[in-house]
Amino acid sequence: MSFASTIRPYFPFFSDNKVAYLDNAATTQIPGMVLDAMVNYYKKDHANVHRSAHKMAYVASSKMEAVREKVASYIGTPQEGTLIFTSGSTEASNNIAYGYGEKNIRVGDQILMSIMEHHSNWLPWLRITQKKGASFEVIPVNVAGQIDLNYLAQKLKKTKAKILICSYISNVLGTVQPIEKLIKLAHQYGTLVAVDGTQAMPHMEIDVKKIQCDFFFFSAHKMYGPTGLGCLYIAPGVEKMIEPYSLGGGMVNAVGMKNFSLASLPHRFEAGTPNIAAIIGMGATIDFLNQFKREGWKHELVLKNFLLSKIVAEPELIQLYPENPSYITTPIFAFNLRGYRCEDAVHYFNAKNIALRTGHHCAMPLCQSLSTSGILRLSAAFYSSKKEIKDFWEVCHMIQKRSTSLIL
Ligand SMILES: Cc1ncc(COP(=O)(O)O)c(C=O)c1O
Repeated sequence: MSFASTIRPYFPFFSDNKVAYLDNAATTQIPGMVLDAMVNYYKKDHANVHRSAHKMAYVASSKMEAVREKVASYIGTPQEGTLIFTSGSTEASNNIAYGYGEKNIRVGDQILMSIMEHHSNWLPWLRITQKKGASFEVIPVNVAGQIDLNYLAQKLKKTKAKILICSYISNVLGTVQPIEKLIKLAHQYGTLVAVDGTQAMPHMEIDVKKIQCDFFFFSAHKMYGPTGLGCLYIAPGVEKMIEPYSLGGGMVNAVGMKNFSLASLPHRFEAGTPNIAAIIGMGATIDFLNQFKREGWKHELVLKNFLLSKIVAEPELIQLYPENPSYITTPIFAFNLRGYRCEDAVHYFNAKNIALRTGHHCAMPLCQSLSTSGILRLSAAFYSSKKEIKDFWEVCHMIQKRSTSLIL
């Protein structure tokens, strides 16, 4: 029995849904145990956290804090640093840009942004640098879809940038960045590094202490967890440089007529009622990953190699980004069917019940640099099967032959 067929029954989504769901970089499906954890919270433990003094409030608060510890352990920092719950990667990124940027970026300062960045990183920093009169420098990727460390070293030397923003894995290209080396290099020039770990979390082991990043963030819904929840890790000492940008209940100790004092860490960064059900679900997501990630990642590698072998055998069918197949190391494939606009091709896949993503993937600057307005993306997950990859490949053939079986 293949790993995909072992794992599928854990996902209620597939019980009566026959779609080949290959859009996992957009969002992953959710295991039943995660859904159950959320429903149980609503049914049995539903109360607000860190406010009331009754038993249910105490239970909900302690369950939420237990998840915080579990997530922190999962990313390699059980005791040190600060882990904040956010509504997702987008809010985490805004937290850094406004929390750190407002306080520290001044006229004439520089920030460095990798060209791969998702709009959720790009836009808050574009706005903050414009507002502050600072400069926003873009670091390109090389033919391997990676930041060139020599180029980066020159830029760091020249700019002494305050902060560098870089994804661990590009959400478009699927390429893994040499993040540990990149961070070491940036730190030599006194530059902080914010790592967008959104696409890395579902596909690889994360150790924030080993890579020594200053900020690291991700969304739960890309790693078999619920929507509306993300996490932002802040390295020890860095929290002093960042101010809470969102103000409200739960993040203060005392409020007077004209002043207020902040609550202790991490709560000072969590204004308002958090998404408690999603946080409880996230605890079950981590349990799921701890149980299945090793086999799951092996399986993803098999699928990646399976599809690559097909692409290499018939290079005339599709164009890959990056072009050289040896640079593809994750189950995220960016491509275009030769001779077809991605907007047209995606309808054929949809008609054949194959779910892919198309367009600019919220990374317009990267697409522009690749001289394309749109790219198709196939992204596999633990439950993806060889059969789905075969079906996908067959549809690529059909489209190229404009097969009469393709009735839209
Ligand atoms: C690399 C990357 N960063 C950030 C985001 C934004 O995530 P969210 O919409 O969950 O905030 C995404 C979503 O696609 C992503 O792929």
